[in-house]
Amino acid sequence: MSDPDSRGAEKRGRQEAPPGARTNQLRVDLISIFPEYFAPLELSLIGRARRAGLIDVAVHDLRDFTHDRHRTVDDAPAGGGAGMVMRPEPWGEALDAVLAGGRRMLGPDAVPTLIVPTPSGHLFTQNLAAALAAEPWLAFACGRYEGIDERVLDESAAHMPVLPVSLGDYVLNGGEAAALAVVEAITRLLPGVLGNADSLTEESHTDGLLEYPVYTKPAAWRDRDVPAVLMSGHHAQIRRWRRDQRLRRTAERRPDLVQRLDPATLDAADLAVLAEVGWVPDGAGFRRAEQRVAD
Ligand code: ADE
Repeated sequence: MSDPDSRGAEKRGRQEAPPGARTNQLRVDLISIFPEYFAPLELSLIGRARRAGLIDVAVHDLRDFTHDRHRTVDDAPAGGGAGMVMRPEPWGEALDAVLAGGRRMLGPDAVPTLIVPTPSGHLFTQNLAAALAAEPWLAFACGRYEGIDERVLDESAAHMPVLPVSLGDYVLNGGEAAALAVVEAITRLLPGVLGNADSLTEESHTDGLLEYPVYTKPAAWRDRDVPAVLMSGHHAQIRRWRRDQRLRRTAERRPDLVQRLDPATLDAADLAVLAEVGWVPDGAGFRRAEQRVAD
């Protein structure tokens, strides 16, 4: 195996799947006019998980469900305006085919959750990734242009859960890059996909805090040293230092996350660090110390 992740994994004695792991824990169907976009799903941990039979990925070309010479998938928006909208007919046929194909594998009553990447969707978060990782079947409808005719979503919702999701407050050219990100965030949570499940527990967004900074050898590089505490071998101090770094980094980069931290889940040292960087408990969350309600 030549990709870097799997070489590292083998060195650490990682297995393809833990003994007794359920095979094909997740089926993923991706529909797009750019099926080549999903080539990266052959690589790294996801490629490995596919080859190990942990996940089953099928990519479908939307244009295969058109019937005209130009394989047309779009048209002018009803009511006028800029850009083009994806016509409903190819989407209807593609989704019917995905449903039929998946049911042959998963059983006649199986239904996928249909994820529609769009900047106007629900925000995709680690919590949502974890919820979707518990599903047996996910289908992605990757739109281009100004989006997919809304009737496709309405019609699909009569047969399956439909979930429009957004990666964040910015606009991509289409749903493909977002679908790749969502598939990666979900599949890495499946048992057996990551060799070291411990790496899931302290990473950013699992408990409302960003991850601490990490270092490796050499101990000194371009006059920059690895923080002395990490070389001390003092495990309790290392744990505390990392926790402090997580709190400081979150306060600096993501004040919106600090606001939502529950003071009841923090210890006295946590509260002292947050106070030092200007945050104090306020009911079930935090507020900036200087933001006093006028009395
Ligand atoms: N498609 C275009 N922009 C997107 C975004 N921000 N998130 C998800 N899908 C998108």
